[in-house]
Parts: sequence; C-alpha cells; structure tokens
Amino acid sequence: YLVDKGNHRHFMAKEIHEQPEVVGRTLAHYVDLANGRIALPEALPFDFAKLSRLSITACGTAYYAGLVAKYWFETIARLPVEIDVASETRYREPPLERDGLTLVISQSGETADTLASLRYAKGQGQHSLAVVNVPTSTIARESSVVMPTLAGPEIGVASTKAFSCQLTVLLCLAIAAGRARGTIDAARERALVDALITVPGLMAESVALEPEIEVLAREIAKARDVLYLGRGTSYPMALEGALKLKEISYIHAEGYAAGELKHGPIALIDESVPVIVIAPHDAIFEKTVSNMQEVAARGGRIILVGDAKGAAGHGLDTLATLTMPEVDPVVAPIVYAVPIQLIAYHTAVFMGKDVDQPRNLAKSVTVE
Ligand code: G6P
Repeated sequence: YLVDKGNHRHFMAKEIHEQPEVVGRTLAHYVDLANGRIALPEALPFDFAKLSRLSITACGTAYYAGLVAKYWFETIARLPVEIDVASETRYREPPLERDGLTLVISQSGETADTLASLRYAKGQGQHSLAVVNVPTSTIARESSVVMPTLAGPEIGVASTKAFSCQLTVLLCLAIAAGRARGTIDAARERALVDALITVPGLMAESVALEPEIEVLAREIAKARDVLYLGRGTSYPMALEGALKLKEISYIHAEGYAAGELKHGPIALIDESVPVIVIAPHDAIFEKTVSNMQEVAARGGRIILVGDAKGAAGHGLDTLATLTMPEVDPVVAPIVYAVPIQLIAYHTAVFMGKDVDQPRNLAKSVTVE
C-alpha cells in the first residue's frame, strides 16, 4: 500500500471517497455473485442455527456498526442480540452461555477494552468471531474466526471507510445467519444480495452531494450544539453522525432515537440548534415526520438527510434537504454513512480544525 493523500487535502477525505471501491472489494469477498447468495470466506466453527443469542462488543465507531448490526441480526435472522461497549462488557462480566457466540468489531484489532472483552468471552467458553481491518492484529489472532473488512489502511483518526466496510461484513453475516436459521428463503437472500450490490454505486452517487454539504457546513459551524435524530437503523447512524461531528469539529453533538425526542432533548430545541434527521423513506418514515413536526413547531432548523420520496412527503420547511438516491432500506445505513461523514468533515475543515489528528484522540487506543 502506498499511503498518501492522493489528490485530497486530508486522509479523511481520501478515505471517505474511497468507500465505493473498498465496500465493493469487501462485498466481492463475501458474495457469490453468480448465485446471488452470501458465501463466507471462512468456515464457521459454530452453527448460527444453534445460538440462542449473540453478544456484540466494540468501542467507538465500531460499536455503532454493531448497533446497526443488532437490527439486522434480529430482523433478518431472528437472533436476539445483546450489545455493549467493550469498556462496560469487560467489567460487567455478563453471564455468557458456553458455546454461544461473541462478535467483536475493531478496525485496528488492538483496542484494549475490546481485546479484554474478547478474552473474557473466551474464558466463558464462547466462540468468538472478529470483524477486523488489520488481519495481523491481536484481536484477529485471538479470535476463533476472523471476517476481515477490506478497507485498506485507515489513517484518519475518525473512522470512515472501516465503518462502512464493517457494516457491509455485518450485513453479510446477518444474511448468512438468516439462511442457517431458516428465517429467510433463497429468494429473500437473493433480494438482499441484490440490494447489497447496489451499495457501491449508490455511495458514489451520494458523494455528489458534497458541494451542497460544503455550503451547509458553514451553517453547522455556527452552532454550539447539534442534534442528530433517527429511528431503526438510522438511530445508530444518528449516534455515529454525532460522534463524527464532535470528534473532529469539537461542536457538541448528540444522537437520539427520534422517538425519545419528547423525553428530553426537545427541551433544547430553538433556532440555534440544527437538527439533523437521518430518514430514508422506510417503513417508519412517517413516524420520523411527526418528530420533525415537533422540531419545526419549536423553531428548530431541520436538516433532512433523506430521499426524494421522503422530501416530497413531509411538507415542512427545512434548513436543508440532502436528497440521497433511493436505496433499499436494509442497506441504507451503509450508503448514508457517506453524507454523515461529509457533514462532519466539511464542518471541521471550514472551522480550520485538524481533521486527521483531532486533539486528545488516538487512532488506536491500546491502553485503558
Ligand atoms: C478510537 C478511534 C475511533 C475508533 C475507536 C475503536 O477511539 O478514534 O475512530 O472507532 O478507537 O477503534 P477500533 O480500532 O477498535 O475500531
């Protein structure tokens, strides 16, 4: 690997733009295109059909990938998921069934808390599956099976392409689990695979929103606080959006499940608080529209990240609408990673921050 910025100002920009390619490469590693099915690159030392539960643990952005995956495993494979940040898992010492499965997610494969949680799970007699980007890492070496993300080296401290590749691998795993558990048939699997293979193209299309996002970033840069809202898999995406923004721009941001708005964050809303609503036109879009109405009624400035169908259907004044291509809702989180990252990136760049080396943060946290 030649690690340079290419034509980009920052590694983060380069890594955001690389996503259609590296997600495509990762997909090719997990999908049997000829037969429209998932073909995992490694044999599994356990049977998804025999699991009563899946435990997931990770830190930071990898944890949010795991939170998205919880929705996928539960809906596609009807497999109950328990997930926690690794710094809690390791000391909470949850009871874990012998021969159950712990899934750890880590870009670096070296995060101290994630590694400690992995060791704890193994000590409980669990199988371990690691989704890692560095195949030679400690976590990769110590796990019973490794499912690699093929993102290539990630240099920007804030994770971008590793995240979208983690999501890609996790969705492939959820589909494989669904097949093993008999919760999806061959036709459903093919439809899911068809949706997955549209992702790299849709991510490339989403990058076209960049000039609009650059303009919007000037507004966001004025804010002291930013709220991110979403439902379903867009909820963890809201958490990830808020994390990205605070990591590199130092603007205080919070992600909330849109339905929780009335249980607290609504108290914060006025004209000075941009509210970024992540809302592809999915089955619960209308529910999110009611939350947008609550925000609008209090003078909140809505930035909708949605698609044309959704934009046409809400009838509200927004500060901006980022019109994403139409996507199958199942794969929306992977595609929506692009505008979420670009919003944080351009806000931070406009504010003159060092996006590749944000203050106080490390790429890989190998000590507690
Ligand atoms: C650090 C990085 C984050 C990353 C987290 C987990 O905090 O700044 O971008 O998400 O560690 O890292 P890992 O290598 O385990 O994915």
